[in-house]
Amino acid sequence: MKPIEIKTGIYWVGGIDWNLRNFHGYLTQRGTTYNAYLIIDEKVVLVDTVKHYLFDEMLARIRAVIDPAQIDYLVSNHVEMDHSGSLPKMIAMAPNAKVVTSPNGEKGLRRHYKEEWDPLVVKSGDTLSIGKRTLQFFLTPMVHWPDNMVTYLPEEKLLLSNDAFGQHIATTERFDDAVDCWDVLQEEAAKYYANIVLPYSDQVKRALDALSGLEIEMVAPSHGIIWSAYLPRILEAYQKWANNETENRALIVYDTMWGSTEKIAYSLLEGLEAEGIPVTMRNLKTIHISDIMTDVLRSKAILLGSPTLNMGVLPTMGGFLTYLKGLRPKKRIGLAFGSYGWGCLAVKEMEAVMNALSWHVPFEGVDIQYIPDEAELEKVKEVGKQLGAFIKK
Ligand code: FEO
Repeated sequence: MKPIEIKTGIYWVGGIDWNLRNFHGYLTQRGTTYNAYLIIDEKVVLVDTVKHYLFDEMLARIRAVIDPAQIDYLVSNHVEMDHSGSLPKMIAMAPNAKVVTSPNGEKGLRRHYKEEWDPLVVKSGDTLSIGKRTLQFFLTPMVHWPDNMVTYLPEEKLLLSNDAFGQHIATTERFDDAVDCWDVLQEEAAKYYANIVLPYSDQVKRALDALSGLEIEMVAPSHGIIWSAYLPRILEAYQKWANNETENRALIVYDTMWGSTEKIAYSLLEGLEAEGIPVTMRNLKTIHISDIMTDVLRSKAILLGSPTLNMGVLPTMGGFLTYLKGLRPKKRIGLAFGSYGWGCLAVKEMEAVMNALSWHVPFEGVDIQYIPDEAELEKVKEVGKQLGAFIKK
């Protein structure tokens, strides 16, 4: 359990969760890390902790650098328990340490741990000198909870960004240029944004604006690798995602009962392809909704398909609609489709969600009774072509 020195006197002392495969409903096929950072100066600072079950791993890394009793400040950038879960034990190991947190962090920590820790409560822009270095705090509410803040070290041009810029990847390597390649990092950062940060894109924009005046050479989040070589690329990606900028491509998400809705899905695909629009097909029976959200993040047009079952959509689509509504992707073009037997209600239910998200729904939904015939599928293909032409406008 070795610490990793990320800058002179600043150590990564986090925990690696190799086996985690589900993070509150988000599939984490590559595991994750909880990153804590130890700063050795005239004052000793630990920024964030790890999930409770990785406390011993973090402690071993800290002990390889310093006696934990020497820690002066415990900065809690975020109350969520993947970062504060080891705080109570850490306070016990460092009895002279002062907890530093945001106003909402103070309230959140009290609700979680029922302790009166008398923290130092900081506001945006507040600074704390720790010797040769300064800690400067910026509140970043809703990225990802109301309590979130980030810690900036101007002398190091280092931003400890907590959840922002995170990715769920378990690895012993700490820097972006040491991990596989940009494609893997980009995919995991995009999945993380789509499943965790997307509903708070307006707050991300505000946070990016607030941080834009700072000199930053390294961003060290609380999950995954540290951005350094690829920092310009991830900053550009965050700007794009926060502005709901998408690519001219279509995503078809569907489930099917007896194959009719799937036939409609493939005819729509053919029409879109005829117009040169790249299409991603996602069958809800085979792909997890958290993976589909990565496709949602990049796709300008989203087509949702379900047959009508029991006066509504299939449960798989129902679950996806609930997830989608919560994550609130904006500025999309929508089209609903599905088959029905005697009550045609699924298309209306899917369109209602599209309307609730303020998507543009330029064409009537496609609903076909029982089994589509060749002529009907040709008409569906035409709808796909029209949609394809609309996407390119
Ligand atoms: Fe990584 Fe919002 O916790």
